[in-house]
Amino acid sequence: MNHPAPTPWKVAVTHEPTRRAAPPEPVHDGPRYPFDHHAEGFAHDPWSTYRELRERCPVAWSDRYDDGFWVVSRYADVQAVAMDDAGFSSDREVVLPATRVGRIIPLNADPPDLTRYRHLLNPWFARPAIERLETEILAFTTQRIDAFIETGRCDLVTDLANPVPAMTTLALIGLPVEEWHAFAEPIHRSSYHRAGHPERDAATVAIGGLRGRMRDELAARRRAPREDLLTGLVRAEAEGTIDAQEAEDLAVMVLIGGVDTTMAALSSAFLRIQRDPALRERLIGEPALLGPAIEELLRVDPPVQGFARTVTRGCVVGGQAMAAGETLFMLWGAANRDPEAFPDPDAVRVDRSPNRHLTFGIGGHRCLGATLARAEMRIVLTEVLRRLPDFAIDEAGVELPDTIGIVNGIVREPATFTPGPRIGA
Ligand code: HEM
Repeated sequence: MNHPAPTPWKVAVTHEPTRRAAPPEPVHDGPRYPFDHHAEGFAHDPWSTYRELRERCPVAWSDRYDDGFWVVSRYADVQAVAMDDAGFSSDREVVLPATRVGRIIPLNADPPDLTRYRHLLNPWFARPAIERLETEILAFTTQRIDAFIETGRCDLVTDLANPVPAMTTLALIGLPVEEWHAFAEPIHRSSYHRAGHPERDAATVAIGGLRGRMRDELAARRRAPREDLLTGLVRAEAEGTIDAQEAEDLAVMVLIGGVDTTMAALSSAFLRIQRDPALRERLIGEPALLGPAIEELLRVDPPVQGFARTVTRGCVVGGQAMAAGETLFMLWGAANRDPEAFPDPDAVRVDRSPNRHLTFGIGGHRCLGATLARAEMRIVLTEVLRRLPDFAIDEAGVELPDTIGIVNGIVREPATFTPGPRIGA
């Protein structure tokens, strides 16, 4: 692993001047590391693997999955790759190994299509639209907490962190929120089991069913428009901006993007707060700290650990030569703990500034739902710290998923707290 260390912050991606006509034979002549983000035990401690990668072979070749891939772990390199849509394509699945849930866009698109799709979706994710959704997010949160607050016990994931983001996403899309469970479950099962696991295979089939449902809903909006995202998509279709398949692929992306990720972020945040009594005290005493605290919680426990790209032309990343056609995996999770970018990277520092974490990605594909996710986290955490401030998670009952290779979250967090009154209607 005698890889030449790149100069932090100056590392850029250098490309050969011309695009190759056809992909050459892969070279893979760099340092090798048996990196596998779905490996047994990885969910319990990805951080030591990330540290080793950053320190010993920040750009390394892993033989796992299909034809193998480059794994990129330093902040500067991950950032440079993510900012370069021409050199690194998202046209194939960005999840490794591929989930086979079908094309979802804008995630699996390159410019100029990427620009067209984002331009279309942007108004639905802009601040004014999210501010309008906030009343609903609070109502969902109140309803879910009311359901258990008198008992003094709950599961913070299954009773709260799971339903609120799912209901919010359905409300945004224009689907019935009471069906949140049917929409969310296949997505969780697909994320939380390895490829080849029967649950994952069943989830893939079920997600195919959700696609069918989305097609039906889009057809219904063509007949009877409403004020929702689905109607926005069929209007764009009528104007010729997108076709029917693209409308479906965009709607499915918003569903998949919104459900699992925010649930994972909340579940990790609850556990961090539980394990850090001083942090809990500060957040209860100084609610204004919640905004920066959420950024820090998102940095240390990013729900999406990494996404892939396909190298489009010969290039050098962090000193390592790569060939067109090769796959590269950007580790947001490792970049977020890179000491070159974040002093004392493993510590949760509420007042860390600047805090340019890569949890929502960066560049042309930066998460469209970032403002929404932050609003959900702020509302849910505010209500939890206000209504069940002494929640105590029974750590023996905490259940991690089989794999955090797609989404890094927690499956169960049984908790007790001092019972309180219902406040909803
Ligand atoms: C804490 C919660 C979330 C995290 C950590 C997260 C993370 C990410 C990341 C890392 C990307 C970049 C993908 C890439 O570079 O290839 C992304 C893209 C995306 N996210 Fe999120 N996301 C979150 C919440 C949401 C929500 C709530 C929605 C919608 C309801 C959403 C919708 C999307 C969409 C549509 C894209 C595709 C953007 C594109 O490819 O141009 N996300 N997300």
